[in-house]
Amino acid sequence: MAEHLSQSELDYPFKLLEYFNGFRVSKVIFSACELGVFDLLLGAPGPLSARHVAHELRTSVDGMERLLDALVGMEVLEVEPAEGTALYSSSDVANLYLARGSSKSLHHMMTYQNQTVYPLWTHLGDAVREGRNQNEKTFGLQPEDPFQAVYRSDDEMLKFMGLMDSSWILDGHDIATAFDLSCFQKIVDLGGCTGALAREMAKAYPSSSVSVLDLPTVVDAAKKYFSRENDDVVFHSGDFFLGDVPPADLYVLARIVHDWPEEKCLSLLRKLHDTCRPGGGVLLVEAMLLETRRGPLMAQIFSLNMLVQMEGRERPPSGYTRLLNDAGFHDVQVCRTGKSYDAILAVR
Ligand SMILES: C[S@@+](CC[C@H](N)C(=O)[O-])C[C@H]1O[C@@H](n2cnc3c(N)ncnc32)[C@H](O)[C@@H]1O
Repeated sequence: MAEHLSQSELDYPFKLLEYFNGFRVSKVIFSACELGVFDLLLGAPGPLSARHVAHELRTSVDGMERLLDALVGMEVLEVEPAEGTALYSSSDVANLYLARGSSKSLHHMMTYQNQTVYPLWTHLGDAVREGRNQNEKTFGLQPEDPFQAVYRSDDEMLKFMGLMDSSWILDGHDIATAFDLSCFQKIVDLGGCTGALAREMAKAYPSSSVSVLDLPTVVDAAKKYFSRENDDVVFHSGDFFLGDVPPADLYVLARIVHDWPEEKCLSLLRKLHDTCRPGGGVLLVEAMLLETRRGPLMAQIFSLNMLVQMEGRERPPSGYTRLLNDAGFHDVQVCRTGKSYDAILAVR
């Protein structure tokens, strides 16, 4: 029985207890982020007491002290005792990833997880029982297309776009360079959202033209809120299921296939196969499962997220290879980056 568990875990279930508390650990970071703790500490001339932080952020002193202590326990903040009071400061990691103003800030990612994903996940048991997303129970919406729920208000759309944008701060370069794509002159990122991954592609392949196609409201918001100075990424408005896709040598589908049921993915891939010339290709970007079903845990969690919020799933390489082959693509190559997202390239 339970041969895979180490003896120490049987003596005392350290790992299980850590998992039980996982949601509370997330909430500590999310709440600190929402209250502005990391921004205040980053901007402060030196370490601050809990009283000072509480005063600046208009919270209770007792509550703030407990929150700061938990962040110290999580090794996100540092503490030093000084004349009977504790002084708190940020770690380099918190300054880089948790403060809002940093160029590598994951603030948007945390906001979306906290405000949208967390409520959805309270219905995970129902999602597993029913085998479908929980947009109705969580938001009172069961639309035809799960993106109508994702984009149910302008505020939600911007939050989601912020989440999408954040991922490529971490993984964009690895994905753009997972394969040498310099032979593809015209690259179109379908469902490219804010253009964050497309910009990484444009940086890695300066002699290629890179454009994004997304839904009209998303393109408008991307241009208004997420554009960069000297942006060399062009945006097209459209619907990749209902309309034509712009001609390209390479189509990028990042976190698209995992959103949709098998038949919709196949019809989209077949459309791309029909549109691109021989030698043209498709690059899928997803968090890939292991063939052994033993991980990675994050990809398994993402697959549950697709159940709770969307209509798709995560797959192992064989799942993508089968889809691509069924759509007519061949020479499927897989690159595991070792980070959150992996790349799969196939050609026509
Ligand atoms: C999960 S997001 C991925 C965004 C981006 N590729 C990334 O990885 O950051 C899915 C994207 O597909 C877009 N999308 C959904 N349905 C679409 C459709 N029918 N036509 C075009 N884009 C669509 C969404 O607006 C969204 O930007």
